[in-house]
Amino acid sequence: AIERTLSIIKPDAVAKNVIGQIYSRFEGAGLKIVAARMTQLSRAEAEGFYAVHAARPFFKDLVDFMVSGPVMITVLEGENAIAAHRDLMGATDPKKAEKGTIRADFADSIDANAVHGSDAAETAAVEIAYYFPALNVYSR
Ligand code: CMP
Repeated sequence: AIERTLSIIKPDAVAKNVIGQIYSRFEGAGLKIVAARMTQLSRAEAEGFYAVHAARPFFKDLVDFMVSGPVMITVLEGENAIAAHRDLMGATDPKKAEKGTIRADFADSIDANAVHGSDAAETAAVEIAYYFPALNVYSR
């Protein structure tokens, strides 16, 4: 089915100037960019976005990292977009990510891991709505 997923290019990858290389991988896999916005997240925005992780020991480091520089937030649309995007990203921990994945190629650590992607249809809908009002998503 045609799905949408939320992708965030994190501060480490934005700082490395590889937004275009990452976007090329999305496009090469048949995913379309239907919304995009560069922003520097506030603490409140980052904490709200990652609220499901609030009780985890890595939460503070995660939020500190996500507000450390600008991020590129993108909505991708395509066949099986959620799984397709996760395949492109590779494992959360770049040490475990398969060769040729975005995290294997661009990430430095489990915190500075280059990209975030929605993990399921329900979370994708919530995450997209968190950053983009429906009228700013340009489905074609
Ligand atoms: P992300 O997909 O953005 O979702 C939560 C983030 O927490 C994850 O990527 C990692 O960058 C970060 N993180 C740090 N430590 C862990 C951990 N032990 N397990 C999962 N995520 C972690």
